[in-house]
Amino acid sequence: MKQYSISPDGEKFQLPEADDYAKEFERLKDSVHEQRELGREIVVVMGVGFVGAVMAAVVADTEDESGNPTKFVIGMQRPSTRSYWKIPLLNRGVPPVEAEDPEVAPMIHRCVNDKKSLIATFTYDALKLADVVVVDVQCDYLKESLGNVRDGRTDMDALEKSLDVIAEHISPETLVLIETTVAPGTTEQVAYPIMRKVFRKRGIEKDPLLAHSFERVMPGKNYVASIRDFWRVCSGINEEATNRVVKFLEEVINTKEYPMTVLDRPIESETAKIVENSFRATILAFLDEWSLFAERNGVDLIKVLEAIRVRPTHSNIIFPGPGIGGYCLPKDGGLGVWAYRHIHGFEDDIFKITPLAIDINDTRALHVAQLTRDALRNMSRPLAAAEILLLGASYREDVGDTRYSGSELVVRRLTEMGAELRVHDPYVQHWWEIEKQDEYPSSTHSLKRFFRSQDKLSDLRVEQDLKQALKGTDAVIFAVRHKHYLDLNPDNVVEMAGGPLAIIDCFGILDDDKIKRYFELGCEVKGLGRGHVKRIKDQVRAEREEMLMALSAKHGTDSVT
Ligand SMILES: NC(=O)c1ccc[n+]([C@@H]2O[C@H](COP(=O)([O-])OP(=O)(O)OC[C@H]3O[C@@H](n4cnc5c(N)ncnc54)[C@H](O)[C@@H]3O)[C@@H](O)[C@H]2O)c1
Repeated sequence: MKQYSISPDGEKFQLPEADDYAKEFERLKDSVHEQRELGREIVVVMGVGFVGAVMAAVVADTEDESGNPTKFVIGMQRPSTRSYWKIPLLNRGVPPVEAEDPEVAPMIHRCVNDKKSLIATFTYDALKLADVVVVDVQCDYLKESLGNVRDGRTDMDALEKSLDVIAEHISPETLVLIETTVAPGTTEQVAYPIMRKVFRKRGIEKDPLLAHSFERVMPGKNYVASIRDFWRVCSGINEEATNRVVKFLEEVINTKEYPMTVLDRPIESETAKIVENSFRATILAFLDEWSLFAERNGVDLIKVLEAIRVRPTHSNIIFPGPGIGGYCLPKDGGLGVWAYRHIHGFEDDIFKITPLAIDINDTRALHVAQLTRDALRNMSRPLAAAEILLLGASYREDVGDTRYSGSELVVRRLTEMGAELRVHDPYVQHWWEIEKQDEYPSSTHSLKRFFRSQDKLSDLRVEQDLKQALKGTDAVIFAVRHKHYLDLNPDNVVEMAGGPLAIIDCFGILDDDKIKRYFELGCEVKGLGRGHVKRIKDQVRAEREEMLMALSAKHGTDSVT
């Protein structure tokens, strides 16, 4: 039976069949032959997801001093029903990822159609032709319960399978650069033994040339620059591998302006990535308790942080919003904690802060549901059956990436509490974690399983028309600082909603004038870390009473005269 893969735009692509593989390999061999004649190095990027697709283009865009491309890149992707569509799109010069960075689409178009330095394929045979293989497949951390990262495990099936396949196909002289974020120790203690074993079976006595260098990519406005014009850390498993990876990265990354750090061993490069992200997760998590403190003691945490940030040593203190999403921060610390026991064999428990930070971040969004419930209560409206609009599905501002966004938890908790949810996000066409909740991110790992009464969410669609989305709502949750939401005028919001409503600010989106205006319009306002709203509410009430007294005094005087 024919199988198909459907792109996010709805285009249907038939998956390759058995006899397509040999033809595809012939096509690749012809292209590679031509490219070698041009003196270009052949690079296979394995996994053309968020990282691999743009990394492949950055490498393919590399030129010598005369402006000639020096690399020929083959993006390699498994032909699964879920991911195959990325290959035909890339081969047309169309990015297989959503990108707000205006550099992404022209760069991919240029490399595929003008420079002819980038193609994509589904066959592992491409690996036979590679001088360098860059591994950008995922390595997941699967959590078994909500808010307890220790109850989980690293899922490196895709990575292990890739390493096995790579070792089956490559020449012993091929450099294998693992860019995937991995549990520290993986390159030397997981990848090396897997590849060495396959090499020995193939009669290859040489050790695999393995190296690690992690990505610091930020899909968003500076997507390309966050790969090409950014500091790198790398390390090889031996001197030859180290020399090769340094040479490769110096050619493709702007290491002149962003000098590279070469560490002694891959475990150090791997640990650097995990510590870097655990540090960030921790400084976000520790503000959760201060956010609650602020709400309960009349403090506006947003202004407090602005006051602290002027001090240069504290300039990176950041407000956490409704939880910490994205692909990396919720999992990376877990990879480290897991590695200590399962790769390095220790039995004791040295980790306190890293898992706690992740647990706090993973459950912070649930508090938004409480604030929504309380705001509606103050308006004498029940949460059950209330129409609630969530503004922003993605995990951070001005991007369309919804992976592990706090918004998902808000929607799920409010749904189990009986509310009717609507969602608006100008950057997200399909919220797959919700729309395809039974299969995304996998059939057993949707966050759905931590909540009850979730089935109706499969029918939830992301609304693009804000006016339509607002019509008749009882509450609006400002969940993400998308630029579209920063200047929304309270009078317009209330008019579009058709009357006063509850307003929940999760990210310091509303300034005091707006909060005041919402109260004047009869709304109720609450916000994460925004304890001062009560003061503004009291002020509006006092002003209203003063006005009423003045009016009644005026009417009293009028009636006397
Ligand atoms: N997304 C980010 O912002 C970001 C930032 C820094 C680091 N990273 C790290 O980079 C790595 C990749 O992340 P991503 O966001 O690109 O993930 P992704 O899921 O978007 O992409 C991974 C791709 O690899 C493909 N794949 C899996 N197994 C394969 C195989 N055997 N052969 C060929 N292709 C295969 C998948 O189909 C998918 O397209 C992860 O380790 C991640 O932690 C991601």
